[in-house]
Amino acid sequence: MRAKAKAIFFGEHAVVYGYTAISIPINLHSYAKVEESEDIIINLPNLKKSLDFKEAKKDKDFRYIIKAIELLKINKPFSLTINSNIPISCGLGSSASTVIASIRALSKFFNLNLSPNEIVKIAYNVEKEVQGRASITDSYTIGLERALKIKNNSYEFVDDFAKTVRKDSLYIAYVEERKKRTAELVNIVAKRENKDIIFKEINEIAEEALTSDLDRIKDLMIENHKLLSKLGVSTKKIDRVVKLAKKSGCGAKLTGAGGGGCVIILGEIDDKIEKEAIKVYKV
Ligand code: PMV
Repeated sequence: MRAKAKAIFFGEHAVVYGYTAISIPINLHSYAKVEESEDIIINLPNLKKSLDFKEAKKDKDFRYIIKAIELLKINKPFSLTINSNIPISCGLGSSASTVIASIRALSKFFNLNLSPNEIVKIAYNVEKEVQGRASITDSYTIGLERALKIKNNSYEFVDDFAKTVRKDSLYIAYVEERKKRTAELVNIVAKRENKDIIFKEINEIAEEALTSDLDRIKDLMIENHKLLSKLGVSTKKIDRVVKLAKKSGCGAKLTGAGGGGCVIILGEIDDKIEKEAIKVYKV
């Protein structure tokens, strides 16, 4: 079974304060396969790790999947193999994606008949228990596989927005490794004096984007990026990629918490961007 990744199109950081954000599922995937086995064995070939349940409980790389197995209350043996082509720790929801792919695969193998809503709730609880705190963005966007408007930690489907942006090409440029974790960046933003004015502007942009055409959405992405820069979460490299994308008529902005990571680009890009980034994905 597989699961997608997610990207935040508008509104990161402001969403933490109850303002609007828009997230969409993107075509990067994680894959989970369950097979018969005499013990519970978890294989992470990307990390060249294969451990039984007891060993995996002591290894940080396995904490999301261990929590998922515990919440599913599975105590029969199985072998679970997880693969993913989603870059990790850069705002694309790789952990939620591997958890959801795994729950889907386990649900099928053990005939648990879990509905998409049940799967999403378990995945959200996994994130909450592992991280101490989680927003619904990753698990719900990935688990329900629909674009969402998120406000005050509740959601609405925004299929028309997805339909509009999907008329053009969508790319994720993985520009540089993140130097800080999401929680640290949220704390940096919390200390900005002018943050409330910026959040209100970001909120207006996100709300306007929901009913805008493709060209206007591209402009709004650039506007949202400028405000994220003002909040201090962009980097020189990220700014350079956004500028290059804008030059070729694309919409572009940082996506996720920042401090490095990824740029989301709407429109056709040229190869200059490929040279600036670690990798560019058509999503
Ligand atoms: O962890 P990321 O990169 O997906 O960013 C999360 C988005 C923030 O708004 C910065 C934090 C949040 O909890 O919504």
